[in-house]
Amino acid sequence: MEQRFAAQNLQAHPTAFQTRWQAPSNIALIKYWGKKSPQTPLNASISFTLANAVTQTQVRFSPKEEEDQKLSFSIQFEGVVKPDFRPKIQRFFDHILPYQPFLTAYHIDIESKNTFPHSSGIASSASSMAALAACLVDFEAQLAPMSEEHRLLKTSFLARLGSGSASRSTQGPMMVWGKHPVVSNSSDHWATPADNIHPIFTDFCNTILLIDKGQKQVSSSLGHKLMHNHPYAEQRFDQANNHLRDLLPILESGDLEAFIPIVEKEALHLHAMMMTSDPYFILMKPNTLQVIEHIWAFRKDSKLPISFTLDAGANVHVLYPNSVAKEVSNFIDNQLLSFCEQRQLLHDRVGTGIKKY
Ligand code: PMV
Repeated sequence: MEQRFAAQNLQAHPTAFQTRWQAPSNIALIKYWGKKSPQTPLNASISFTLANAVTQTQVRFSPKEEEDQKLSFSIQFEGVVKPDFRPKIQRFFDHILPYQPFLTAYHIDIESKNTFPHSSGIASSASSMAALAACLVDFEAQLAPMSEEHRLLKTSFLARLGSGSASRSTQGPMMVWGKHPVVSNSSDHWATPADNIHPIFTDFCNTILLIDKGQKQVSSSLGHKLMHNHPYAEQRFDQANNHLRDLLPILESGDLEAFIPIVEKEALHLHAMMMTSDPYFILMKPNTLQVIEHIWAFRKDSKLPISFTLDAGANVHVLYPNSVAKEVSNFIDNQLLSFCEQRQLLHDRVGTGIKKY
């Protein structure tokens, strides 16, 4: 039990309370892949917080007539009751109840929607868990006032128990999650903003190319599990931590030439882990590789600092500084759009994290 986040003796509020928070998705540059129980990472990671790919969540807490020590909730997504979302939310509540035991005194109605297309393959667990955690912590702050710093840390802490990467969606522009020797305030239990980010990265662009909108064949949870007994696990965790150590000064200096190889290596090594696990699997699609080759050729010809990263899926995240957005946007329209499913993409950029809406 993390004593710092315990909330044992709060008096239940006799009246209903309602709150609405939005949280963005994030894209990791140094990838988290492999965890131990309860949801602690086996290496440190860092991500860009996004601005446009957002989940908006409204939660209503209604006091129960009689407390029964049982958690009771309903969940609607984009106006539709979603029984298939219940198991994940139930597991989330099971994990967080020790830190918010007062929740059993209420019935909790959750209504959520995304600003990005549903089933687009864009990870929505980060934004949805962070938005829900923000609502829960806001409610706790009504029962017992807390500092802004504590509110943000607790939101990250609870979000992490729903989905590891969700811990990094609370603030921006870049968030570190996982204990790392060169990041003094880093923790396995919550994410914190990376210090001294060069201005070139604070409005960095990320265009998400929707290569394959279908359901992933292998979930992230299974992928994380397959890092146990993985032949390259230890090397991978060391490598990610070394990449983070090397990337931090680059994020301070704004050196894009040094940024690109680390970020692209991370994306490909993440997928290399999938291809070398037992059982092995491939989440990239032929069009993922086509896009990567086009990005490399364009970078060589144009000398523009464009690069890519990948999530646990087939979609490609194209990364570039805002100063070259026009040229890159033309390149994407002319050469990459035809590789996207139904020519769909999402222009996003670095953002600031959770907020009330
Ligand atoms: O948060 P999860 O359990 O869905 O795992 C996310 C894993 C990656 O997106 C592949 C990497 C990362 O650090 O976000």
